[in-house]
Parts: sequence; structure tokens; C-alpha cells
Amino acid sequence: MERVRAGVIEHGSAEVLRKAGLGERMDRDGFVHEGVKLAFGGRLLRVDFKDLLDKHVVIYGQTQLQKDLYDAIENAEITLIDEADDLRLDDIEGESPGVTFTRRGQTHTLLCDYVAGCDGAHSVTRGHIPPSAGKSFERTYPFVWVGVLSETPPVSDEIIYANHETGFALCSMRNENLSRYYVQGSAEDQLDDWPDDRFWETLIQRLPDSVSDRLVTGPSIEKLVTPLRSWVSEPMRRGRLFLAGDAAHVVPPTGAKGLNLAISDVVYLAQAFADHYAKGSTESLDAYSDTALSRVWQAVRFSWWMTNMMHRFPGVSDDFDRRMQLTELEYLERSETARRSLAENYVGLPL
Ligand code: PHB
Repeated sequence: MERVRAGVIEHGSAEVLRKAGLGERMDRDGFVHEGVKLAFGGRLLRVDFKDLLDKHVVIYGQTQLQKDLYDAIENAEITLIDEADDLRLDDIEGESPGVTFTRRGQTHTLLCDYVAGCDGAHSVTRGHIPPSAGKSFERTYPFVWVGVLSETPPVSDEIIYANHETGFALCSMRNENLSRYYVQGSAEDQLDDWPDDRFWETLIQRLPDSVSDRLVTGPSIEKLVTPLRSWVSEPMRRGRLFLAGDAAHVVPPTGAKGLNLAISDVVYLAQAFADHYAKGSTESLDAYSDTALSRVWQAVRFSWWMTNMMHRFPGVSDDFDRRMQLTELEYLERSETARRSLAENYVGLPL
């Protein structure tokens, strides 16, 4: 199943990208968002990042960012080996771990000082940290997100997260004429269960009238159904193998944190390598797993909290849970302190 690739870049992540010389296209083509909106009870609540924290997020598609990274690798004349199959690591607890793979029928081995396992949710490198060496933590959620991309102007110039008694909805965008919308579906739903008409009807029902009145619908040019889960695997290191990003943790897309956590892991890891090669000390490398996990868990908590506050939990929620969700949202409405807390997490905790 395809995953949601949110295009929300935290304030600090955007700074990291700029410092690495990767900010040019993001700053030119991305959109600075100084707030986010929550819809519930027919109302819209805006959380103003600029006012509360003097910060923002940048909306810039992950596929665009990926392209910038590949271009930078090429410009720096760094060797990139693609189409590698049958990946295997050897001796990760020794002095010189090996990365072995086949490519176009030939077997190759790279001898390394260290290996960074940045190979995503279907990570092969993670398999080299045996379950007995650590512990993993998981929460699956009893619903899916159905997502649509359509060549229509976004309904709002800021992202809207909607809590409706029939379920969650989200309005996002890629550019002035490309909208990204999601609605909560049932755990067993497949793509065929969600023809465009049903999707738009559901979305309209879940948005306040002031928003749905302005919604422009159109044919979907892409559609996905994706489950939601929180998952963390500890530790993020074994011997000379260091995991980063989705190889070690997954968050539900509700907080738009996945990409940002990959960036913060890599920042910590890069600093640790720089320290090591400059000073010969392994102190930061030894601290990497704890340092990264401490920030990972903060984002796991925030994504879990947003997910719980905004979705209908079929078979689990009762009237009491529903009241708690609305009370939580009303607390955000009443309290600047509550909004500041949401804003602080949404724009990203400091690295
Ligand atoms: C998206 O634009 O695809 C998006 C935005 C915010 C989210 C998740 C996805 O929380």
C-alpha cells in the first residue's frame, strides 16, 4: 500500500535544508504557512504559528525534495549506486562492516567504517538488529486514510484538519492548482470502495459549510488508501550500523512528521560522524540512538495525540470519548497556551 507523503516541512527542517544548500527550489516553489486550521462543530479554529512562536512551516512536496537531493548528489559528483539487489550486511559488530549486493548480475562488496541504514519502512538493514537486541513498540489504528490528488484550486490557503462525527477529513495542497484531500475510511476499505463521487460527498459532509461551499471538485488524478500506525524500534544502532528515518520508526500522517523525523535523525547522525572524524571520539556516535529516539518519541506522541483527537474510532469510541475529543478541541479554542503547545509541536521541536 502506498504511503502518505505529506509535504509539510518544519521550521527547523527548512533551516537544515537551506544550510545544506538544498533550499533554493523549496524557497522558490514552496509555500510558507504561518498557521493551520482545525474544523469541528461546524467551526474553524486557526492556530497562528507566527503570532504564537514567530515560526512557520513550508509546504513543499516530498517528491520535489527527493529530486533536489538527487540533483545535489549528482552535482557533488558523489557516487550513487542504484538498482542494487540482494542487499546484505556483514560483520556490523566488527571494525570494517561489509555491504554486499548484486547489480546487473554481478556481486559487489563495499567495505565501510560505518553503515547508515536509511532504507525506509521496508528496511533490509533493520533486519540486522535482532529483536532480542532491543524492543519495538506499535499502535495500529482501526481505520485508513483515503487520499485524492486533483487538479483544482485548494479550498483553503492553509491546511485544514477536520473532526466530524462521521470521521476525519484533511484539506491540503501542492500548488495553486493542485489539491490534496483525505478522508477517514474503514479499516477494510480498498481503492474500489472509493469512487470519486463518494470521496467528494464524504469530504463535503465533514467540512464546515463555510469551507465546503468553496470546495472545487474535479476528477482525481491519483488516489490512495493507506493504514495508519505508530511504530518505534529501539535501539537505532547495533555495532557500526546506525538506522535513520522510517527504517526505525513510523508515525501516522496526522502530524506530518515522517519526513521531518528522517531529517532530524540524519542531522544527529551527521553531527556525530563529523565529531568522530574531527576529534576521533565516539561519544556522539554512542549517544546517537538515545539522542534521536528522544526526539522521535516526542513526534510519536504528537502524531498519536492528533490522531486520537481528530478521528472516529469505530467500535471503540463511545459518547464519552466523543465528548472528550470536542472538549479537547474547545480547550484549544479557549486557551492560547494549548494552541501554543500544538503550534510548538507542529512547527517542530528544536533539534
Ligand atoms: C499532505 O499534504 O499530503 C499532508 C498534509 C498534512 C498532513 C498529512 C498529509 O498531516
